[in-house]
Amino acid sequence: MDDSADSVTQPGPDRTTRSWADVDAHLERSIVRPDESFAEVQRRAQEASMPGIEVSAGTGKLLGLLAEISGARRVLEVGTLAGFSTLWMARAVGGDGAVVTCEAEPAHADVARTNLDAAGVGGRVDIRVGAAEQTLEQLVEEHRGGDGAAFDLVFLDADKAGNPRYLQLALQMARPGTVIVGDNVVRDGAVLDADSSDPDIRGIRQFLQDQGEDPRLEATAVQTVGAKGWDGFSLAVVREPAS
Ligand code: DHB
Ligand code: MG
Repeated sequence: MDDSADSVTQPGPDRTTRSWADVDAHLERSIVRPDESFAEVQRRAQEASMPGIEVSAGTGKLLGLLAEISGARRVLEVGTLAGFSTLWMARAVGGDGAVVTCEAEPAHADVARTNLDAAGVGGRVDIRVGAAEQTLEQLVEEHRGGDGAAFDLVFLDADKAGNPRYLQLALQMARPGTVIVGDNVVRDGAVLDADSSDPDIRGIRQFLQDQGEDPRLEATAVQTVGAKGWDGFSLAVVREPAS
């Protein structure tokens, strides 16, 4: 057995012959089965020299399934990148659904626009370009003004330093039952570094604590390994207010 080039250093048995990335590739081929549109998204992202930090296909499909299971029609995403996770969720909300996705980098938003149009879901995706905090504040204003119903599913996947703030803003556009997913809450275990000076690690730690303490939320977090290494995601649902 060869020790494949993309193997990931990991603990446990078979570390020389079997890697998290190999298993991810197997799961992608056997059960996840992303169609050609997803490869096109990744190809255009690479062409544009964008960082390969999109979610794995397995996680992307999980987002789509969460949207489907929860009957989501309106999705809010923070961190579009090239639109890979956006495409999974846009497919899941169906033709009468909508995804609002926030991207700070105009060049990334351009690639995402091309990708989502090419995949045939461009009409249901609103890409908002700008710093996420300002965009979310603007969306809160629009929501208060009656433009736009509550979001059914929220996916936070931009800078992690901003997550505590993004969570509070998203909660202003949520309803009981809204599902909130946060990517990258483990970061190779760096989440344990209570004294970290890294704003992203501090953001993740605060984000987890806020979700754990907020009486409006029921939340958990799950560790993951795979092609993207050792990480994890948080999953929360907005509760009915106590009566
Ligand atoms: C990074 C960001 C992500 O959202 C991710 O999934 C992986 C890495 C990063 O900024 O390094
Ligand atoms: Mg991420």
